[in-house]
Amino acid sequence: MWCGALAIVCLLVLGSSEARKGFGPGEQDWGYVDVREGAHMFYWLYYTTADVSSYTERPLVLWLQGGPGGSSTALGNFQELGPLDSNGAQREGNWVQHVNVLFIDNPVGAGFSYADNTSLLVTNNEELIDDLMTFMLHFYKLHSAFKDVPLHIFSESYGGKMAPALAIRLDEAMKSGELAQPGILKSVTIGNPWISTRHITREHSKYLFVNGLIDEDGVVQIDAQEERILSALKSHEFENATDEYLKWYDLMQVLTGKMYLYNTQTHLDPSEDRTYGYGDDFVRFMEVNVSEALQINGSYYASQVMDVLGSLHGDRLKSDINAIPRLLNETSVKINIYSGQLDCLVPTTATLSLIKDWAWTDKSAYLQANRTAIVVDGILQGYEKIGGKFGMYWINRAGHLVPSDNPTAMQYVLKSVTQYDGKSWE
Ligand SMILES: *[C@@H]1O[C@H](CO)[C@@H](O)[C@H](O)[C@H]1NC(C)=O
Ligand SMILES: *[C@@H]1O[C@H](CO)[C@@H](O)[C@H](O)[C@H]1NC(C)=O
Ligand SMILES: *[C@@H]1O[C@H](CO)[C@@H](O)[C@H](O)[C@H]1NC(C)=O
Ligand SMILES: *[C@@H]1O[C@H](CO)[C@@H](O)[C@H](O)[C@H]1NC(C)=O
Ligand SMILES: *[C@@H]1O[C@H](CO)[C@@H](O)[C@H](O)[C@H]1NC(C)=O
Ligand SMILES: *[C@@H]1O[C@H](CO)[C@@H](O)[C@H](O)[C@H]1NC(C)=O
Repeated sequence: MWCGALAIVCLLVLGSSEARKGFGPGEQDWGYVDVREGAHMFYWLYYTTADVSSYTERPLVLWLQGGPGGSSTALGNFQELGPLDSNGAQREGNWVQHVNVLFIDNPVGAGFSYADNTSLLVTNNEELIDDLMTFMLHFYKLHSAFKDVPLHIFSESYGGKMAPALAIRLDEAMKSGELAQPGILKSVTIGNPWISTRHITREHSKYLFVNGLIDEDGVVQIDAQEERILSALKSHEFENATDEYLKWYDLMQVLTGKMYLYNTQTHLDPSEDRTYGYGDDFVRFMEVNVSEALQINGSYYASQVMDVLGSLHGDRLKSDINAIPRLLNETSVKINIYSGQLDCLVPTTATLSLIKDWAWTDKSAYLQANRTAIVVDGILQGYEKIGGKFGMYWINRAGHLVPSDNPTAMQYVLKSVTQYDGKSWE
């Protein structure tokens, strides 16, 4: 069903947009939006549990999982920032206590989203963003109370590629009156973002060496493999680049004795789920417990994730390093990057060298800003440097998945970025 011309029918078919009791505390809503014929995108909205007279008093945070193919409703929700963890226990430091959170299983094929035929999965970032835009058009029709509510996009990792591209399109559509209101999109905030393969691959061996995870011989081997990725990219052999990237991953695992790439200093327990959401227990939890509570078909969960990876194989390592400078130059959207210091996949130094290479109109405001310590309840959590429309947050004791590794610091960032209760941090 193509909803564009049939909005009324869609509303009926997709069900009510009223808050419902879903899984865990608070009011929720969820469902599928057909972004193309045969392409079904799943979302899960949590209304804030903050003590407010209307949920519209708090901002809407859109969370986009990385991957590609990671499930926002599963990983972002249960492993990083939702009200419950995957043991069903309340998460201290969850975001729903402060703001409304919208999880989207994106692209189609991730999480509970699915395509009737895998030939319908997206093959590049433009198609992926087209689907997200179609989704957002429908979201604002179904949940029109949000059209005046400040919107903030938060994401991590591969989100470095998706979130800025989505923001450019959303800002345009808002300005033209196509959806919500002009100026409602306030910020894009991305953790350990995979934006520029070139900048990232130059930093891996340094990170591993400085942290004692490889020796000089390892440096030579890693650098040689990274060079293969870059040379494939340079000659526009994009599939090959991804193949070489996967070989880099294997090499790094061999050299480090299977270090946990996303957090090089923790997750010591070998029985811990290091599968980024595809461990048996977690999959069963999504397929059975969650899907039963939501009354959706659990067997869709993650059933097409390998197809998603296959379909984006040739696009994965392509970068658009201009999307963020463009947003900063041409829109009022604020940009923030946060970086967990223990991440090997996208080391903090890679992000800093990219920021150094970016040019944007009021960059001097950022460059002149002081970098200051983030201290919460007397404990050092990291550092921030914010100037003009750009902010950088360094997060201590966190790796690639900052909200789960250091929820205290991440709540500081959430508050600093969204100003959700109009008060500054104390
Ligand atoms: C999932 O459901 C099973 C069977 O009802 C139950 O035993 C288990 O505790 C549930 N797990 C969670 C995390 O809620
Ligand atoms: C899926 O799509 C492909 C390409 O359009 C087509 O050849 C194939 O028959 C389809 N498969 C099913 C089960 O519909
Ligand atoms: C692409 O892969 C082939 C074989 O896998 C290899 O021989 C070739 O050198 C690669 N090209 C680049 C640019 O890395
Ligand atoms: C649930 O989804 C699977 C595909 O993953 C499908 O085979 C099955 O028919 C669906 N069940 C229902 C009740 O729709
Ligand atoms: C942004 O503006 C800066 C300086 O005004 C300029 O050098 C840069 O090329 C612009 N970048 C984009 C992507 O518009
Ligand atoms: C930065 O720090 C210096 C030294 O503490 C101080 O003099 C200056 O006013 C600060 N600048 C800003 C913009 O806060």
